[in-house]
Amino acid sequence: EVIYRKDYQEPNYVVKSVDLAFVVEAESTLVTARIQFEVNPKQDKNELFLNGVDLELVSIELNQQQLNANKYDLNERGLSLHDLPDAFELKTVVKIYPSQNTALEGLYQSGNFFLTQCEAEGFRKITFYPDRPDVLAKFTVTIVADKEKYPVLLSNGNKISSGDLNDGRHYCKWLDPHPKPSYLFALVAGDLDYIEDHFITKNNNKVQLRIYTESKNIDACDFAMQSLINSMQWDEERFNLVYDLDEYNIVATDDFNMGAMENKGLNIFNSKYVLAKPETATDQDFINIEAVIGHEYFHNWTGNRVTCKDWFQLSLKEGLTVFRDQEFTADLQSRSVKRIEDVRYLRSAQFAEDASPMSHSVRPDSFIEINNFYTLTVYEKGSEVVRMYHTLLGEEGFQKGMQLYFKRHDGSAVSCNDFRLAMADANSVDLTQFELWYSQNGTPQVYIRENYDAGKKAYSIDFMQAAPDNYKGDVAWQPMHVPVKLALYDNEGNPLPLNDAGDLQLTYELKEISQTLTVNGVEHQPIASLFQGFSAPIKLHRQIGHKELAFLMKHDTDSFNRWDATQEMQSQIIIGKYQALLDNKNYNCPKYFIESFRHILLDDGIDSALIAEAITLPSVKSLTLKLAKVDVLKLFDAKEWLIKEIAYQLEVELLSVYNQNYDSSDYRVNSEQVAKRSLKNRCLSFLLQSNKKEFAGLAKDQFIHAGNYTDKMTALSLLTHQQVDGFEDLLGAYFTEWQDNPLVINKWLSIQATIPASDTLIRVKQLMELPVFSMKNPNAVRSLIGAFCGANITQFHAEDSSGYQFLADQIIELDRINPQIAARLAGLFNDYHQYNDEIQHRMNEQIKRIHTTDGLSPNVFEIIDRAVGSI
Ligand code: ARG
Ligand code: ZN
Repeated sequence: EVIYRKDYQEPNYVVKSVDLAFVVEAESTLVTARIQFEVNPKQDKNELFLNGVDLELVSIELNQQQLNANKYDLNERGLSLHDLPDAFELKTVVKIYPSQNTALEGLYQSGNFFLTQCEAEGFRKITFYPDRPDVLAKFTVTIVADKEKYPVLLSNGNKISSGDLNDGRHYCKWLDPHPKPSYLFALVAGDLDYIEDHFITKNNNKVQLRIYTESKNIDACDFAMQSLINSMQWDEERFNLVYDLDEYNIVATDDFNMGAMENKGLNIFNSKYVLAKPETATDQDFINIEAVIGHEYFHNWTGNRVTCKDWFQLSLKEGLTVFRDQEFTADLQSRSVKRIEDVRYLRSAQFAEDASPMSHSVRPDSFIEINNFYTLTVYEKGSEVVRMYHTLLGEEGFQKGMQLYFKRHDGSAVSCNDFRLAMADANSVDLTQFELWYSQNGTPQVYIRENYDAGKKAYSIDFMQAAPDNYKGDVAWQPMHVPVKLALYDNEGNPLPLNDAGDLQLTYELKEISQTLTVNGVEHQPIASLFQGFSAPIKLHRQIGHKELAFLMKHDTDSFNRWDATQEMQSQIIIGKYQALLDNKNYNCPKYFIESFRHILLDDGIDSALIAEAITLPSVKSLTLKLAKVDVLKLFDAKEWLIKEIAYQLEVELLSVYNQNYDSSDYRVNSEQVAKRSLKNRCLSFLLQSNKKEFAGLAKDQFIHAGNYTDKMTALSLLTHQQVDGFEDLLGAYFTEWQDNPLVINKWLSIQATIPASDTLIRVKQLMELPVFSMKNPNAVRSLIGAFCGANITQFHAEDSSGYQFLADQIIELDRINPQIAARLAGLFNDYHQYNDEIQHRMNEQIKRIHTTDGLSPNVFEIIDRAVGSI
């Protein structure tokens, strides 16, 4: 069933309060709900629908009277009540079976504890309720369970009482004073350890902070705790937002569909984003933990205090909160590196989504299954949209907008439009046209034409906006409001004044389909740096030669655009080689390229982290998006060719940078050390491509002597991917050492899943038989099947279609266990239309095979049906 945004109706009844009681037992859990309802005068309808899925109804009472079966209708979606009074109490008792719940939505089991995941629509698997984000209520929760088996009993808000009962049972009672929608409900019951710290807010409230995990992991939580404290501090300083409860609890689980969840006062996290020690986590893992802890913490204001009116507004909280977590990381780590990495991800993954059958606007107009819309578009493009307000209004103006947003909407459920209006009104600007960023799907294109008139000493740029090829709106596409941050340089690299005020940098606002910017008083042909810092999520079409690129790499004061010039030059070379391979022609790596690459590699004027980014070649995915009807194996070969050229021609330089950055001081996750390791390891990965024994030896030494997991894992992964003599033994020893640590073993699975060799699929199938792998565990599925199909280009796209067949088989099997994860895997077919006809044909066969399978979940059906619809 398709749900449309335009069909929104206010709820018939509002909820005044909810009182829940859980009796948790190993086999089943009994849930008693007492809910106070009051009619919504704006609707004035005396009937009510309560969502409820997979619930065994034990009893139902209305105002303390048992409700006769003719007073309600029960079906597999829920409960309908009619002829209701204007105010009443409903009491239901239902039985649920958490240990049989493999979808990991609602109440389920992980190891020896129980926990919940309610967003988006999981609460309806716990009790009958108006399970929609615009119904806010105060929750009181009592949990009863065996004290020995389930010593820890947690829910939202503050703990108000606890004690022992007879039969060895105990209880805890929690009160959350802040009205919230049901998707923010959480409960945890089981045998967990915790670490504790505290934070004193700027209004002098002492908040107790705890992180709970299974006891074997309790020594890996300290970094996460420090990240939480950093997040609380940062949100006070930068956004003036203060925490609002007396406790903050985080629980880590190995079984989780997503990254983490911002339940009020009780965040639940995938253990991947909590647990880290230098021996078991990479630098990137540490940085991700800090970012995700931040993200969930920041939701307390942007998501929980102000929430979404309906699920079409998801980006209201997610786009904004991603923007906030990106700024958090930028302020604490390296701002330039963070921006580069975020844009790299957006351009390869979100641009791909936006060009695919799943393309949708930041605020979608319809869906079948909302879980399919927790997408890169809603999150990452949504964050870019928020960033554009910041670019247009500046930090001060943006913060004014935030303040007005909270002043108007604290405690309520609102829409993306409400956010836009707060930004506009607080700054007295008109942001009407900006709404198109929420309503139009696809990546907008901007074409430019530059013109220098030596006689008039005038330089001008014509900007032309164009619709994305796959725009799907009902009305004609309209030009967007696009901020273009720019600067102009003379041929020595000095910035030129752009206007009478003498500004050297400008945010020029495009609003028309075509528009011309003219700068006067320009003595010679200048060079422009456009869309600095990636000031808008658009595809720029600009003819630019290698001389101009080399100039920008050297002189642009914007570090993002300096990096972008390196990527553009690398893309041009790889694409040149690719065309030559297609045409059976020769293609030699131009001298200027190697020279400029050497220059960057050895430039001690730039920060090592930026060098590491600059020498990382564009992904095959992002290159694919610049082309059409791609022969993906040839494109892969073209990129491999360039890697090898660099490795051979710059061997000496790579080795020397490797050695210079070898750091044997005590491991720290600080930007200096992280930068050195990432530069060193990128050099090593080039060196190994030359297939020389001495470099394999270097990697083996690094594997053996590494004092940290980043270096160890990189070396193992490089040795494995090159299938260097003895790699199987290294893998074997690693397994023996770490088989009890799922996070470490998942990396071991991924390394093997991405070996570019023809027997890898057989290996993957063998690994699936090991006890460390389970289809029921999302992290394991992502690490093995997801890595093979999403990151092993040569084997997933093998010419015998074995990769496609394998993926289809796994989707069909997994759909019966966990539809959300199956649907994520199904998304891996979505880029089929980027490839040549022969590849498309073979991928489509498998897509159609899934489509004709009986009993698909709505999750997989929606993804595959969209794919089939555009074949
Ligand atoms: N709100 C969570 C976050 O972004 C993600 C929850 C996603 N859940 C889901 N079932 N799709 O932090
Ligand atoms: Zn979020």
